Amino acid sequence: FDTKTPKSVTSDPLSFASESVRKRWPVILTGTVDDIYKSIAQTEDAEKQAEGKKIVEQLGALKYEVEHNKPLTPIVDDGFTDEVAEYNKEVAALGNPPTWHDVPWLFSECYMYRRISTFFSTTKHWKEYDLFYRQKMDTFRTSRNAVLELAARYKDFVTELQKDKDATHNPDVEKALFTEMFEVCLWGNATDLSLLTNMTYEDIQKMQGSAARKAAEKNIIANDLPQVYDSLRQARADGKAERRVDFVLDNAGFELWVDLVLGGFLLASGLATQIVLRPKSIPWFVSDVLPADFSGLLNAIQDPRAFFETPSDDDKLQGKTPTPLSDKEVADLEFVFQHWTGAHAEGQLVMRPDRYWTAGGSFWRLPHQRPDLLEDLKQAELVIFKGDLNYRKLTGDAWWDPTTPYTEALGPMGPASGANIMSLRTVKADVVVGLPAGKDEELKATPNGGGDTGARKWGWHGKWAVVSFSKGH
Ligand code: F6P
Ligand code: MG
Repeated sequence: FDTKTPKSVTSDPLSFASESVRKRWPVILTGTVDDIYKSIAQTEDAEKQAEGKKIVEQLGALKYEVEHNKPLTPIVDDGFTDEVAEYNKEVAALGNPPTWHDVPWLFSECYMYRRISTFFSTTKHWKEYDLFYRQKMDTFRTSRNAVLELAARYKDFVTELQKDKDATHNPDVEKALFTEMFEVCLWGNATDLSLLTNMTYEDIQKMQGSAARKAAEKNIIANDLPQVYDSLRQARADGKAERRVDFVLDNAGFELWVDLVLGGFLLASGLATQIVLRPKSIPWFVSDVLPADFSGLLNAIQDPRAFFETPSDDDKLQGKTPTPLSDKEVADLEFVFQHWTGAHAEGQLVMRPDRYWTAGGSFWRLPHQRPDLLEDLKQAELVIFKGDLNYRKLTGDAWWDPTTPYTEALGPMGPASGANIMSLRTVKADVVVGLPAGKDEELKATPNGGGDTGARKWGWHGKWAVVSFSKGH
């Protein structure tokens, strides 16, 4: 069921796959060891400490294997027998044995996170432990300025929209707001933590404000947003009673915050009647959303003073103390909190986890492997796939000609699937489709675009973005 177009592999020296396995993953794995040490230091329980040390050893061994091009070994059965068997079947099919520096990028990266999760799931005291939680909450704390700016904006427009109960909104104003909210949500994806290995907190903050967003509009190199607006507006005009928008989520922290801002806008404007959030079920690609991240975020804004006035790790290093929040800032956040928890209580904002999102294959397999899940996605007016990894999974992480239509690169998840699929993705990998002829060459010729080397380096750091849509019903 996979595409015949060649997949991105870690053995290709010109790919970001190669750079990832050799440079980025060892850094990520070192970070996880630091996190476990911190948690070991915080417990008195000797049994928990001993288990923690074993986890550290396993993480260290995995790092060694990745760095030294050792084989990918079978994943141990941690209770999700079929899921593990599926991973191991694929490992076995890749070579005998496949080694880290010569495997398909997409599968091997998923395998790495799936394997890490067994280090925890097979313990007594660390089963539910999220080794990336600390890092995710810390970045949310450092996103404070952009969070406050958006909370103020949110309160203003939701209050306006709520006054206009019959949804007779001024179409120009609504469309402008729609575009703004989608762009906010799009650029929120530039801040994922797996790229933090080559980005500072300061770089991230610079990307989050409204001025940065305006300036970045020209960096959206494929943009189907107008078609998405028409599609949702049409569904509302047709008087459909249920108009669901699903988010196949990507990252926690600031990105989840902007997802909820967009979701709240869609509800308040009547462009959607329900929002379904689809998180991961195990710690994934460092910063991806788990159900607990949703509660973590709500708790943070429920008591914003306690949260934002606590110094982050970064603040501590620099000896900084956060300035107190103003009463207005606290009130804005309270408004947002009330709006979201109200929607949640009404069933308009729900979480629907599914372990399929942490399987190792591309979504080309989804209709065949999970017809029930596809059926569910088809019920939505729109399914928004957030971020880079979801885009890689949708397109099979393959070396498509960049002018290939998005609808074609989705294969069985394209129009024939019957689902309305959208990608909101800042480009952080080699795969990209739906570009006008000549765009790839033009970007390769920019400074650090990779032109001289032949690599598509312009696509590696989230500076450019694609907003693509495939209409299935
Ligand atoms: O391509 C770089 C990378 O960090 C990959 O590890 C992964 O595909 C992706 O970016 C994570 O980004 P996102 O959180 O947007 O899916
Ligand atoms: Mg992610």
